[in-house]
Amino acid sequence: MAAVEYREEDGVLWVKFNRPEALNAINKDFVKGLREVVDYARNNKTVRVIVLTGEGKAFCAGADIKMFSESSHFVARSTIEELGKVLEEMEDLEVPVIAAINGFALGGGCEIAMACDIIIASERASFGQPEINLGIIPGAGGTQRLARIVGWKKAMELCLTGERISAEEAYRLGLVNKVVEHDKLMDEAKKMAEVIKSKSPYAVMLVKQAVNRGFKMGLRDGIMYERDLFALSFSSPDAEEGIKAFVEKRKADFRRE
Ligand code: HXC
Repeated sequence: MAAVEYREEDGVLWVKFNRPEALNAINKDFVKGLREVVDYARNNKTVRVIVLTGEGKAFCAGADIKMFSESSHFVARSTIEELGKVLEEMEDLEVPVIAAINGFALGGGCEIAMACDIIIASERASFGQPEINLGIIPGAGGTQRLARIVGWKKAMELCLTGERISAEEAYRLGLVNKVVEHDKLMDEAKKMAEVIKSKSPYAVMLVKQAVNRGFKMGLRDGIMYERDLFALSFSSPDAEEGIKAFVEKRKADFRRE
């Protein structure tokens, strides 16, 4: 069985981490699977939204600790480095990625979630960067994305203590977009995917680029970058259609390609 399974249905790429016996821990096959997903989304323009979730009681419990103890230092390190690259590419995809967090999102699992564009959490989900308990530190954005999302001091606390936080606490910190009943998680993810799918694919891509790339710039550069992307969006056929549809009091029919 593949560590990462995926299927495309009506423009949504449904991805499931599938090593439940190891709480979907990240090994070489897992990273290979995630890379395949990113490549698939890049090469198949029918994909409009990606949804990631996990089988069983974890979204992902982080790097496979057994891999650290059983493989050479080189294999473990190159796997983590490859994961970091895949996450950056995922952030840079044209289509949004929704993380539907069904349970534990720890270490690398929390880092994968943070590289997604929207995080919807089951009330059973929990988050944390417990690497410190293993005598190591986060290696795929845990000290960096986390600090930018929840703030400098809270990220410091979470990484120094390895403390696990509930979905509610993660929501309060701005780490997740919404918390839902466990049984409604995938319905909520689908609803969000449908909303995004109804928009202009071109405008969706530009929003994702403006927010994600702008987030890594200073404010002034970010504002200038946004202005350029705004000009691009304004001259697109979808803008013509969206504005015309508003004036004609009808639903816009955006391009699908
Ligand atoms: C390998 C793991 C694992 C992991 C759980 N398992 N997490 N195997 N790597 N990260 C395995 C357990 O060994 C066990 O296997 C089975 O999954 C079920 O786990 P339990 O511990 O029995 O479940 P539970 O008591 O519910 O506890 C859940 C848990 C705990 C709190 C999530 O498993 C845990 O603390 N896991 C480690 C989390 C962690 O430290 N993650 C950070 C990893 S480092 P058996 O065979 O015994 O049934 C990291 C570095 C990031 O992520 C670098 C960039 C990616």
